[in-house]
Amino acid sequence: MTSEVERTAGEQTRTAGEAARVAGEAARRRTFAVISHPDAGKSTLTEALALHARAITEAGAVHGKAGRRGVASDWMEMEKARGISVTSAVLQFAYRGCVLNLLDTPGHADFSEDTYRVLAAVDCAVMLIDAAKGLEEQTRKLFDVCAHRGIPVITFVNKWDRPGREALELLDEIEREFGLRPTPVTWPVGYAGRLRGLVDAREPERMLRYARTPGGAHAATEEVVPGGVAAREEGDDWTQAVEELELLRADGAEHDREAFLDGRTTPVFFGAAITNIGVRPLLDAVVDMAPPPGPRELAGGGTRAVDAPFSGLVFKVQANMDPAHRDRIAFVRVCSGVFERGTTVTRAASGRPFATKYAHSVFGQDRSMVETAYPGDVVGLVNASALRVGDTLHSPGSPAVFPPMPTFAPEHFMVARPVDISRSKQFRRGIAQLDEEGVVQVLVSELRGEQSPVLAAVGPMQFDVVAARMAGEFSAPVRLEALPYSLARATDATGADGLNRSRLVKGEALTRVRDKTHLALFPDRWQASNFERAFPDAPLESLLAAH
Ligand code: G4P
Repeated sequence: MTSEVERTAGEQTRTAGEAARVAGEAARRRTFAVISHPDAGKSTLTEALALHARAITEAGAVHGKAGRRGVASDWMEMEKARGISVTSAVLQFAYRGCVLNLLDTPGHADFSEDTYRVLAAVDCAVMLIDAAKGLEEQTRKLFDVCAHRGIPVITFVNKWDRPGREALELLDEIEREFGLRPTPVTWPVGYAGRLRGLVDAREPERMLRYARTPGGAHAATEEVVPGGVAAREEGDDWTQAVEELELLRADGAEHDREAFLDGRTTPVFFGAAITNIGVRPLLDAVVDMAPPPGPRELAGGGTRAVDAPFSGLVFKVQANMDPAHRDRIAFVRVCSGVFERGTTVTRAASGRPFATKYAHSVFGQDRSMVETAYPGDVVGLVNASALRVGDTLHSPGSPAVFPPMPTFAPEHFMVARPVDISRSKQFRRGIAQLDEEGVVQVLVSELRGEQSPVLAAVGPMQFDVVAARMAGEFSAPVRLEALPYSLARATDATGADGLNRSRLVKGEALTRVRDKTHLALFPDRWQASNFERAFPDAPLESLLAAH
């Protein structure tokens, strides 16, 4: 009899019926993330979406507000206490016959390359905007990644229940700054702070009215009011909303599936996540507008169809969630075929087998075993010390390699030195391991020497992770010293040499160990401009644009 471990994914019998079943399962998956600036209401919206989908019985399970049950937050505290970066929780819920996978994009101080990498695992993004603040810094950075990756973006303007900017002004800002044509799907009746209801552009002869639910602990009930009644009861607010929608429509701001999937337009929704206003239309949009998993580009050209044998992309590796077991969990997005726990898959980079005996779905503290997963789903593989961010896993008989995961422009830089010189071997090994895992980018230069590598990160919390892991895991405590740089650009050997010799330009060039790219570091963008003037022949390229 074949044991569980001996079964391999390649032995799965693949019939036309099986392929059709996988294609069907893929077609009902929607895998997305919410991108926003801290405080715009991402946690609140996540709760509201899950609440509508009845994934959790009472709002609060995700965020852990006072007096409510906290799942993800407890786990985050636990991880923080151990100096580990906060894990992207993956929330899966069923809605209208679809399976929705909502991947968290960590924000605040834990903003890191992981935040960006999550976007490699989604098919769509919901861009959440605070009605009073409009586009903010972190939203811009995340939107840039979506634009580069060709991820379609749905917009939700949040907090319409309190004073904010004008709806048309916010649309202008999106169009002007992101070059993305907004196509409103719901439109507010009443200005920000005086929300009377919503009009659905597809059914403009009626108004959606919401019963308020203080604290947002229960879904607001949505009532459909005929246009005549809305006109009588809401007066100018109704008339203005209808007129504005007509104007927008006359201007051609209507949802067009092709333009949206192509990244040229963004359907826009208005609401207030805290009272669940406008959340149902957004959830419907995820089902109706967001694309299901599709064929995925391969490194050597061509694509991998969703109904091909199993393949998956490792988009995040979380180390040491349980230090007692040196536990390491790899988050894998299934790209094609069926993932079945217990099968053995191949790690494309090494050609070596990987046994998937311990596969979990991960939501906050709760880890439940996953038996089967389809394209678009995310599984957490435990004991994954052999896996790296960007790895492709595939069914043994059916190779595939996805393009490498891009590295992003770091904004924080620290010199690392071993506290105890006699531990320099462990120090070097630890730093190399953290580089390989993508915890930080490691930069070196002849000037600084091998014992003083520069660690570069997208978010400052990564340095806490480094310090904790170097001490705890590699027994090589480090001293970290901040460098006064905030901007990194790629250059060539001539540019690097010029910068290190220049007395006119403030900055320094280092080489990234992972791919030998020369990085020019500057304190600010003015010094980068000085570099361009001083070395007109040397390239200075944005790192994000480099992939
Ligand atoms: P984040 O995950 O994006 O950081 O945001 P989060 O959901 O934590 O929301 C940030 C703050 O904005 C919270 O208030 C939240 O209650 C509030 N908020 C979210 N959505 C809405 C909305 O639609 N309308 C209004 N008026 N407020 C909203 P807080 O005071 O920071 O926290 P708490 O006291 O509510 O816990």
